[in-house]
Amino acid sequence: MNAHTPSDRAPILAVHNISKQFGGIRAVNNVSFEVRKGEILGLIGPNGSGKSTLFNCILGQLKPTTGHCEINGKSTDGVRPADLSLMGVGRTFQQLSVFPKMTVLDNVILAGQEHEGTMLSRLFGKPDAGLTGKAEQLIEFFRLTPYRDTEAGSLSYGQQKLVDAAMAFMAGPGIVLLDEPAGGVNLTMLANLKERLQTYNREHGTTFVVIEHNMEFVMSLCTRIIVLAQGEIIAEGSPEEIRSNQMVIDAYLGG
Ligand SMILES: Nc1ncnc2c1ncn2[C@@H]1O[C@H](COP(=O)(O)OP(=O)(O)OP(=O)(O)O)[C@@H](O)[C@H]1O
Ligand SMILES: [Mg+2]
Repeated sequence: MNAHTPSDRAPILAVHNISKQFGGIRAVNNVSFEVRKGEILGLIGPNGSGKSTLFNCILGQLKPTTGHCEINGKSTDGVRPADLSLMGVGRTFQQLSVFPKMTVLDNVILAGQEHEGTMLSRLFGKPDAGLTGKAEQLIEFFRLTPYRDTEAGSLSYGQQKLVDAAMAFMAGPGIVLLDEPAGGVNLTMLANLKERLQTYNREHGTTFVVIEHNMEFVMSLCTRIIVLAQGEIIAEGSPEEIRSNQMVIDAYLGG
């Protein structure tokens, strides 16, 4: 078994009828789903199908046109993105969010301070806030210890993606949403990232929702997959079910 057995309790994340309209574009159209504790849920779909927009609606970066979300049964309405970490939510962005001129250690510490004030107060406030030990543990977990004191910007792209991942775990979240963690990452780093995420899931019971285009990565990492096309869920199931679903093959996987 790669993952914790999902429990029967309230879903850790419930998404209710989320829609997001940008002018004439309906980027996300009435999407609802639930995620159970311990699941590794994959979210796949063609470019522009609304995956990142859906994440940003769930995470408060965007206000959905309709719908709402709950974390452990609590509504996230009006919760600021930075405060979601207090509700046990971590995330990575599709674009790297490391500060290139800061060391790996300082980047990870800074991520842990996210809920403690504004970006400016984080940059110019107290440098550690007691987070060094925790940051070092995560750096070691993601096998970045040799780069602890290296400027993040001088690492390879794949290593920076690992720093990004480590940053998402600083608040000790129950659920982490990762937007294309494997995008542009070489095969060795990819295998490393997948194995680390699976180990974290197994050891801590942490739930993941992962957007990714790399099918080998998604199919071997995820316990369940949701497929979006043109802002709507067109399929949901196990990796095996998704691989053989004709609608998914037509919309995304290709002949
Ligand atoms: N801020 C925005 N303003 C206007 N349109 C937007 C905005 N963000 C996204 N869109 C549009 O919404 C649709 C969904 O985009 P989104 O980025 O969510 O897709 P995606 O599934 O994440 O794609 P990719 O796999 O390429 O990352 C696209 O048509 C996109 O052009
Ligand atoms: Mg995207």
